[in-house]
Order: sequence, then C-alpha cells, then structure tokens
Amino acid sequence: MNILLTGSTGFLGGKVMKELIHGTDHHLYILARNLKKAERLKDSFTTEEQHRLHLLTGDITLPSFGMEDGLIRSLAGGIDCFYHSAALVKFDESLREELFAINYEGTKHALELAKKLEIRKFFYVSTAYTVGKRQTGVEDLYPEDDCSHNPYEESKVKAEHLVFNYGDVMDVSIFRPSIIVGDSKTGEADSEFTLYGFMRALDIFRRKIERKHEPGNDSLYRVVANPSGTSNFVPVDYVAEILALALTKAERYGIYNITNPSPPTNAEVLDMFQDALDFHRLTTVDAHHHYELSPEEEKLNEMIDTFKVYLASDITFKDDNTQKLISGTNIGHLRMSREMLEMIIQAYFTFDR
Ligand SMILES: NC(=O)c1ccc[n+]([C@@H]2O[C@H](COP(=O)([O-])OP(=O)(O)OC[C@H]3O[C@@H](n4cnc5c(N)ncnc54)[C@H](OP(=O)(O)O)[C@@H]3O)[C@@H](O)[C@H]2O)c1
Repeated sequence: MNILLTGSTGFLGGKVMKELIHGTDHHLYILARNLKKAERLKDSFTTEEQHRLHLLTGDITLPSFGMEDGLIRSLAGGIDCFYHSAALVKFDESLREELFAINYEGTKHALELAKKLEIRKFFYVSTAYTVGKRQTGVEDLYPEDDCSHNPYEESKVKAEHLVFNYGDVMDVSIFRPSIIVGDSKTGEADSEFTLYGFMRALDIFRRKIERKHEPGNDSLYRVVANPSGTSNFVPVDYVAEILALALTKAERYGIYNITNPSPPTNAEVLDMFQDALDFHRLTTVDAHHHYELSPEEEKLNEMIDTFKVYLASDITFKDDNTQKLISGTNIGHLRMSREMLEMIIQAYFTFDR
C-alpha cells in the first residue's frame, strides 16, 4: 500500500512508521515540517526500507500543508491511506490559538488534502481524553459541549467531529490512546510531554529540595491528587501495533479507545516515581478535601499544574471496539504489570540523569 503519514518525527508517529515499514512492502509518504529531522529519521532505516520512504515537506497549519498543486496532482489517486497523527500535545490555556491552528485547522487541512488525493481511508489519532470531565470513556463521539478541561481536549473533540463530517467522502476511523508511555519491552520513549513532563517536574523539585540540604528535615510534600483515582498509561508499541492493524481491520466510522483496562492508582504511580528518583518525600492530598499548602508544596503543584485535572479524576474507559479489532491477531489485550510500568519509569530516569 501507499500510505501518507503526518507526525512521523514525533513520539508515536515514529513508532507507527516503523511498524508500517518493517517486514512489509508498503511505501510511506512522510509529511514533515522539518526536513532535516525527517532525513535523520529516514537514515535510521535500512537501505531497502529507505527506498520505500518518501519525504514531503509541509506544515499542517497551511491549506494542503503548503504543498504545490503539481505535487498534489502527481500523488492524486496513488495513495491508499492517510494517518493523521501530527498535533500539539500541550494543555496550557495560553496556547489555545496555537492548539486550534494545529489540532483543529491542521486536521481540516489534512481532510481536504485527503479529498484532493482521492484517499480511501483516513485514520485520525485523537486522544482518550476527549472524554473531558465525564467519568466513563465510550467509543462514540462526545458532544461538542463545554465538558473539556483544556483547549487541547477541546481542539481534539472538535477535530473528531470534523473527521466524521468527511465520512461520506472516504472511510474515516478515530483512534484514541490514553497517556502514551515508553516501549513495553525497552522502556524507550522519545517524549517530553504528558507523563514525561510530569516526571521531569518531579525530578526538578527533588533536586531543589536536595540542594537545600537540611539534615534532619524529612518532611513530606503533598501532590494534590485523587490517590485512589487511576492513571491510564498505554505503551507506545501497543498503540503503534493497533494503528498498523487499522490498515486491514479498521471499520468505517469506528472509534477505538486504546486504553489500559486495569490502570494503576495515582498513589501507586507516585510511589513508583519516588522509588525511581530515590526520593521518598512525596505524598498526596485528596483533591476533593480541604487543604492548605506550604510555599514549597505550592511550587511543586504549580510545576505540575497542567496535570492537576488528570490527577483529580478517575475515569473508566470502554475499549470493546479495540478488543474486537485485535481479536484473532497476535496482539493481546493490554496487560500492563507493575513491573512493566516500573521498568518504563526507571528507563526515563536512567536516560535523563
Ligand atoms: N503523547 C501522548 O501521551 C498522547 C496521548 C494520546 C493521544 N496522543 C495523540 O497522538 C498523536 C501523536 O502525539 P505524540 O505524543 O507523538 O506527539 P509529539 O511527539 O509531540 O509529535 C507531534 C508530531 O506532530 C508534528 N507537528 C506538530 N505541528 C506540526 C505542523 N504544524 N506541521 C507538521 N507537523 C507538525 C511534529 O513535528 P516536529 O517533529 O517538527 O515537531 C511531530 O512529528 C497526537 O495526535 C496526540 O494528540 C498523544
């Protein structure tokens, strides 16, 4: 097949790209805004695989990604599938405009380009957190109401609706991973955001406290969270394998939550961070109770402010469509053991420190 991908220079896209090229005869058309980065990525493949990798320069915030009409005409009718994974994965309110330009307008441009290229299948990588403030994640579109926590979620909810609006022109499917973490076998992760942004903040806080060097002071610092709430992590290789399977098994208008059926509690995850950091001075204070924070705790919680809403919630995700998608294949339903998550967390701190 001939497959067009956006976001390949990113954490998930790079893994999807590998999944689609290793041991296949697919040709991949890689859209990247940074050609040098894409060339470095291409260089990491074998010579045979490189012959099946075609780089396209473009920016998804531009109509047709800024690609020239001649190039679009030459590709039209020759591409079978389009994976749209490029996005801005940040949650800050101050980035609202940029988030909408990349995640919403960018998806509109991707769909219009797919139409021009006469693409038959369009796979949109969304997020399980389009669930917003609801307690249960379903595999249907959520209403475009004010149930989002931040402009990232909002831009993704709106983009999902947009994708379905093109369902009469091409087959569209939506894939919604929860929080993507490192590889289930190696722990390797090429990411600075979500879990990795959180871990970096904790590491910075640890260093600050340790620099103060106050012998005898072993007071605890509280992270505002729901200790019995859960953190829903999925390994990047599991997500990439499911996305690759979409080529043959995704259903038209299918929505797939790629989530962890038995996620760890926030308290368990915090313990794992502390073990990895060898810093056992963190605890939680229930987000739903009354609390007053010390100046240090204020600082700590400010550093992880964008994650606050996720630490306070406890969401259960349905993933029946995903289970159906993987049934009969060699991809098992995710079973993420404590050891696996510990290894992934440990890998981050090992590489980072
Ligand atoms: N990471 C998670 O935990 C998570 C969880 C659920 C869903 N998702 C979804 O999964 C997808 C991939 O996320 P990720 O973690 O792999 O993100 P990432 O590592 O930040 O990668 C984002 C990719 O999008 C590209 N991109 C951004 N703006 C662009 C633009 N204007 N034009 C062209 N390309 C652009 C980036 O290119 P550059 O390399 O040039 O920056 C990069 O290749 C996203 O749709 C995200 O919403 C992620």
